[in-house]
Amino acid sequence: MKIAVFASGSGSNFQAILDACASGSLDASVSLLVCDKPGAFAEQRAASADIPVFSFSPKNFDGKAAFEEAILKELRARGIELLVLAGYMRLVGRTLLKEYEGRIINIHPSLLPAFPGLDAIGQAFDARVKISGITIHFVDEGMDTGPIIAQEPVRIEETDTKEDVQRKIQKLEHALYPKTIQTVIEERQRSVR
Ligand code: GRF
Repeated sequence: MKIAVFASGSGSNFQAILDACASGSLDASVSLLVCDKPGAFAEQRAASADIPVFSFSPKNFDGKAAFEEAILKELRARGIELLVLAGYMRLVGRTLLKEYEGRIINIHPSLLPAFPGLDAIGQAFDARVKISGITIHFVDEGMDTGPIIAQEPVRIEETDTKEDVQRKIQKLEHALYPKTIQTVIEERQRSVR
């Protein structure tokens, strides 16, 4: 299945997805990286793996509908079937949601519905919770809402720094995201048969 990954930053989850495709544990072809932060490290990862990039600055467009139309054009041209958000730091708008309803997934570094939005790890750390975790969910028009597909907990120890928590969360993300994408793909393939 052809997928597009959307990222705004370092792209370590994007890398985990590429690695899983290369090893054969994820039966997908990453056909496009969509990046709204030209120069983000995710773009270098794409270049190293020979993945085409659609890089754009939202400020050069007349609003969200306009840049999502431009993204849509790229997705259609490449026959993309599933959109995978991996640190894409903006809300998906109606234009993409309409065409890809039920086919957009996101990963968030907390046990949703706790700590949605920005800096979820910092929010959990400051709240001094003992357990946080990660969530993979389908995307709807809300901020980190939408049906939950998978979750895994992470224990926060008394002695953990925020960086420790971040490391634990990222390690878990890199294992669970490719695995969950594979499950979503298999379920989609079963349902269209
Ligand atoms: C991840 O923690 C993910 O849960 C959140 O943004 C972060 C992206 O990190 N949505 P990276 O760019 O994949 O390294």
